[in-house]
Amino acid sequence: MTLLPIFKYPEEVLRQDCEEVTDFDSSLNELLDNMAQTMYEAQGIGLAAPQIGVTKQITVIDVSADEPELIEFINPTIVSKEGSVSSEEGCLSIPEYRESVKRAENIVVEAYDRHGKSFRIDADGLLSICLQHEIDHLHGVLFIDHLSRLKREMFKRWYKKRGGFDEE
Ligand code: NI
Repeated sequence: MTLLPIFKYPEEVLRQDCEEVTDFDSSLNELLDNMAQTMYEAQGIGLAAPQIGVTKQITVIDVSADEPELIEFINPTIVSKEGSVSSEEGCLSIPEYRESVKRAENIVVEAYDRHGKSFRIDADGLLSICLQHEIDHLHGVLFIDHLSRLKREMFKRWYKKRGGFDEE
């Protein structure tokens, strides 16, 4: 397995609308394995393909507290959402910055696994938040896009003061 470099804000690849996966082949398996390893190494709870420079609709998530519980989502779509909840989010592509974001509380997602088999998941709590964050990534949306205008300005000032992000 290979650790992949994580692209940081404001890289253009993070703003792409990703393509659907059509080939469930060995290169997809390899990509998924590398993404999981990269996510765990970076101590993240989710990683989307554009964050490693691949504009495909793929994300890996593990929000478990103790034993690893990896879930791979290929071509995920939110089919229903309900409720609303605010919680603090961060992103491996925007290191060290955290801010509260409002999301749906419960969502139902349909996706494919690495073998091309479809599945449906009812998500709440951290899994719901993380899934919404990662699915946003697949459409070029970052969590800072959900901030109020004031908080967005505060982010820009924070980023400018920080002098950008270092390359890994
Ligand atoms: Ni993120």
